[in-house]
Amino acid sequence: MTNSPIDPVSSDSATIEALLFEDRRFPPPAAFKAASLASGNELYDAADKDLESFWADQAAELLTWSRNWDTVLEWDLPFAKWFVGGQLNVSENCLDRHVEAGKGDKVAFHWEGEPGDTRTITYAELLDEVCRFANVLKDLGVRKGDRVNIYMPMIPELAVAMLACTRIGAPHSVVFGGFSADALADRINDAQAKVLITADGGWRRGAAVPLKINADVALVDTPSIEHVVVVRRTGTDVHMETGRDQWYHDLMSMVSADCPPEPMDSEDLLYLLYTSGTTAKPKGIMHTTGGYLTQVAFTHKYVFDLKPETDIYWCAADIGWVTGHSYIVYGPLANGATSVMYEGTPDHPGKDRFWDIIERYKVTILYTAPTAIRTFMKWGVQEPERHDLSSLRLLGSVGEPINPEAWMWYHEHIGGSRCPIVDTWWQTETGAMMIAPLPGSTTLKPGSATFPLPGIGAELVDDQGARVENGGGYLTLTQPWPSMLRGIYGDPERYRETYWSRFPGRYFAGDGAKLDDDGYLWLLGRVDDVMNVSGHRVSTTEVESALVDHQKVAEAAVVGAKDETTGQAIVAFVTLKGDQKASDELGQELRGHVAKKIGAISRPRTIVFTEDLPKTRSGKIMRRLLRDVAEGRDLGDTTTLADASVVEEIRRRADAAPQED
Ligand code: PRX
Repeated sequence: MTNSPIDPVSSDSATIEALLFEDRRFPPPAAFKAASLASGNELYDAADKDLESFWADQAAELLTWSRNWDTVLEWDLPFAKWFVGGQLNVSENCLDRHVEAGKGDKVAFHWEGEPGDTRTITYAELLDEVCRFANVLKDLGVRKGDRVNIYMPMIPELAVAMLACTRIGAPHSVVFGGFSADALADRINDAQAKVLITADGGWRRGAAVPLKINADVALVDTPSIEHVVVVRRTGTDVHMETGRDQWYHDLMSMVSADCPPEPMDSEDLLYLLYTSGTTAKPKGIMHTTGGYLTQVAFTHKYVFDLKPETDIYWCAADIGWVTGHSYIVYGPLANGATSVMYEGTPDHPGKDRFWDIIERYKVTILYTAPTAIRTFMKWGVQEPERHDLSSLRLLGSVGEPINPEAWMWYHEHIGGSRCPIVDTWWQTETGAMMIAPLPGSTTLKPGSATFPLPGIGAELVDDQGARVENGGGYLTLTQPWPSMLRGIYGDPERYRETYWSRFPGRYFAGDGAKLDDDGYLWLLGRVDDVMNVSGHRVSTTEVESALVDHQKVAEAAVVGAKDETTGQAIVAFVTLKGDQKASDELGQELRGHVAKKIGAISRPRTIVFTEDLPKTRSGKIMRRLLRDVAEGRDLGDTTTLADASVVEEIRRRADAAPQED
């Protein structure tokens, strides 16, 4: 761990100390507590008493099963099976049972496109569209177990496509629309997907993102794809390959809305979602059916204190990330909630778009990321102040540590000082929230995700794996949980190695955290070579390999530097091949190259051209020093450097390097 961006075990970090001086407390407001679903310790006590019965009770209460399970948990570390022998269908749980219960006219999604067009979709309408699209997929030859790739903007058809896959038992693999053609092709090939569902484009900040054009580039290199379904969204002119590409609306007009749900085993693969790790190759995280749906429904209900009859819930993430999978699609629909879904960016047409949406739909629960909150802070309080936000009763945060200042701003200016804030720590791998308050029960401290949820075991350990009960350590999970990843697609060994080998018997999350005197957990960020940029995971190695893929680059080292708004920003130190000259234009070209190879979120903010990189005598790049340089800190120990003068020169150049917004 010598390259760790933070050392959670030593307490020399100013951030950690500052966090631990945070002594503001926010107990649940009395009225909120009185009306909440969980105001005491009952859920924690039940889980402590008997973990398996606790989760079995949740699975039985929250979901409808077509066959009961025989065994709650089979745990052969690190492989878990939950509700073994049980059968259910996810789309039936998300749709049919609500319609059968007489809630067909209830709104599932108030959808709003970025240009201002809207659609109101009831549960009955969503079921109808899902059944028809499931029949389309069947007609295209998709069978139970076949993988379907989805590369779409935030439009209702994205949720329809996912649910249609679950209806027929075809695992989906959604690739975020901001990823590049190369990234899409890699993911399609790893999953060996048979069908790709995409759109002509999607609206983002007033412009059409050319999804089909990107997909066409990817499709040159994806032999497993037999059919492409294209939703018309932006009206962009696109090429339709005869025999392969068909319009969604044409296919939908030819099928019936009768499609019985396929009963799936609890442990059948529900979806793959690719995420960045510490190597250049993204990992296909596997989630299965029964356990996943149980925990997303449970956490969505209790962490958001959901009252499906009255709440208007809005998760402002993109469905292309796990937050959208679990808390725009599966959790809210399983619980019969009414959600807002929004296609575009928060600054289009004005910087008050979110507040305008909240006012118009009377949103009661808002779930967003600290980067968004810090951006809103920068834009100023006049934006939310122009709107009536009094419908809000609960706020959520996810994706990165929330600094106390941003927490307080969110609390005061968005929540009117009356709404609890649930800071929810979890990962693509955990599938659902793991560390978070229960808003009617937990006293909040600004910046702390508080405690593990009922049924979740989390502990900190030191470098040697000894438990830390107070102070900093590595965050580990001590027991299996229903929505845990079941592995990395096609690579069980990598699964074991990545998550279960660092601390024997424990899942290592890759995060550092601190425990304060009251047992509150304070998340500190990643301790591995994974960056967190605007709440999105970016691998340093992946960006480095995109850079050295450029013909003029000899070597590259990438670090995440602290950034006031985005949490971390990508800083790349690049040495060029012998005859190449550094220039601002080349810097731009390299940024563009990374965006093309991976996607715009991975575009470095700063490129520092250097003659040399700081290396140990054995040739290992000392990232920790580069991080010190990138964050303008005094240099740490340089005695192991092969050539200490290299760093001073790099610092001089870093100070002069242009930064991109
Ligand atoms: O470092 C943690 C950070 O995001 C990582 C997981 O990223 P991803 O798989 O993309 O999922 C993001 C949405 C769940 C974690 O390892 N993270 C997530 N939530 C928090 C957080 N860090 C601090 N506080 C959080 N609430």
